[in-house]
Formats: sequence, C-alpha cells, structure tokens
Amino acid sequence: MADQAEQLRELVRSRGQAKPAASLQTPATGEQKKTRIIAISSGKGGVGKTNISINLALAYAQLGKKVIVMDADLGLANVNVILGIIPKYNLYHVIRKQKRMSEIILDTNYGIQIVAGASGFSKIANLSDEERNTFVEELSQLGGADVIVIDTSAGVSNNVLSFIKAADEALIVTTPEPTAITDAYGIIKIIATEIENMNLSLKLVVNRVKSVTEGRKVAERVINIAGQFLNLKIDYLGYIYDDPAVSNAVLRQRPFLVSEPGSKAAICVRHIVSRLEKVEYREGAGIGHFLKKLMGIP
Ligand SMILES: Nc1ncnc2c1ncn2[C@@H]1O[C@H](COP(=O)(O)OP(=O)(O)OP(=O)(O)O)[C@@H](O)[C@H]1O
Ligand SMILES: [Mg+2]
Repeated sequence: MADQAEQLRELVRSRGQAKPAASLQTPATGEQKKTRIIAISSGKGGVGKTNISINLALAYAQLGKKVIVMDADLGLANVNVILGIIPKYNLYHVIRKQKRMSEIILDTNYGIQIVAGASGFSKIANLSDEERNTFVEELSQLGGADVIVIDTSAGVSNNVLSFIKAADEALIVTTPEPTAITDAYGIIKIIATEIENMNLSLKLVVNRVKSVTEGRKVAERVINIAGQFLNLKIDYLGYIYDDPAVSNAVLRQRPFLVSEPGSKAAICVRHIVSRLEKVEYREGAGIGHFLKKLMGIP
C-alpha cells in the first residue's frame, strides 16, 4: 500500500512537471503553466451548473486564455449536449488505455476544448493501480491549459467530492428556490466535513435571480449560516439573471455567450469571470497539486 502511494506520488511529481502533449503545449517557452482549476457544483440538480461551466469557460477564452471544460458528471455527460457535440470517446476509454488523452479532447467552434466524462466508472477510489497510473499520467497532460473548468453532477457522489477536493476553487451554484438553498448548504456542509485542510476556496453563485437584491439576500443567507454553524468562509462571487437567453441557447445547443452575447445572463457571466480574475489564487496550485489531491495522495 505504501509502495503504491509512493509510486503514485512519484508519478504525479514527475508528470506534474512534464511538458504537456504537443497539442496542449504552451506556445511561448513550453514552461509548465499554473493551471487554475475550478469545480462547479451544487446541492440540487438543474440549477445551471453546466450552462455556467461552459459560458464561464467561454468568457475566459474570450480573454485569451486556453480553457478546457471537463465533464466530471460521470453518469450523464451533459456538457456535450449543450454544445451539440457527441463525443465518441471519454475518460473511461483513457483509463482503459483504449485512447490517449490527446485523442479524446475535443475542439469546439467556440475556442474552448472539452473532455467528456467517463460514464463507465463509478469510483476513482476503485480504480486498479494500473488504471490510476494511467489516469494520473493522462490527466497531467491537461497542464497546458490556463483554466480547467470541471462541471460536476449535483450532490456528492464519491467522484464529485474527489474533484471538488482536488480543485483550487469550488463554485457552488444555487438558485433563490428554498430547496436549492437548503441543498447548497447541505453540500457546503459535506465539503466542510470532508476537507480537513481547507485550502479550497469556496465561492457562491446565485443563478436565476430577478434582481441584484435577491441575489445578495440569498448569498447572505448561505454565507451567514456557513459562517455561524460551520465556521466557514464563503465568498459571494456574483449572480446571474433569470434570462430566456439561457433556455433559448440550450434549445439551440449554442452557448448563450455566443448566441446572445448582449443578454443579461452573458453580462453577468463576464462579470463573474472578471471578479475571478481579480482574486489571486493560492501559490503552489496547478495540475500536479490537483492530481495528488484527486488521487488522495498527501
Ligand atoms: N440564468 C438562467 N435563466 C433561465 N434559465 C436558466 C438559467 N440557468 C439555467 N436555466 C435553465 O435551467 C436548465 C438547467 O440548466 P443546467 O443544465 O445548466 O443545470 P445543471 O445544474 O447542470 O443540471 P444537472 O444537475 O442536471 O446537471 C437549463 O436548461 C435552462 O433552461
Ligand atoms: Mg449539468
């Protein structure tokens, strides 16, 4: 067991520093970039995670960043649905060594790349040694990106929690609906209990608001309760208006940042990204760090 952990640690150490695959390489010096890894989560399903993941990624790409959206929704790969892309291969094929990471990363028409989730394995922890090694080795190739946005499924399966724990930041999405707020608090509580070393920065996004005040009130409620009962600091990152541009975009399978760039929702998402850009994130983060945490290596 100790041997296996040491082996993985070594692999992460070396691969974390390694140059990314040709297609993922940074153009200038080939130096390892500091990849910012953002997990998008919620307690309740259907609150807008996938739409936020994709449009946030696009807003980042429009700032000239190299962005990958990873669909960690290991059951229902839904990033693809919103983008109107049907990927043939996903992380499962990578883990099974049937495909390389460079072969499953898909370019989109929107300047972002996507990696489809593995709708075939239920638990990272259950992977065999060989599969884990392959997974680490292949995922480390994503180190060429500036930003990796991970769209997780709602609630807390083991894998979702692994991805959240491994990320630099977790954006918790809620809507003003009482059930969504309660469930957001629920997932925050689980994160708080599961993560001993709270280096992870938790941020709240209130989606589908009717007014700025509504967003602020919902955020205050969640943030105050988390502070009071969990002694946890959560930042209010921003709100997104309830906007028909979002559902129209879903129907057309085109991100609203592209189909309706002037919409209220698009403006809000760009605002959220500019806020994220203003926040300095912790030193020492990046893909190596992410992989270690994902695999539970201390
Ligand atoms: N800001 C918004 N304004 C209007 N409608 C919205 C907004 N955000 C989300 N929706 C609606 O909610 C639906 C669900 O959004 P989305 O698929 O992004 O949620 P999700 O959290 O990823 O769901 P799941 O938990 O099933 O993965 C969208 O198809 C859209 O119709
Ligand atoms: Mg989704």
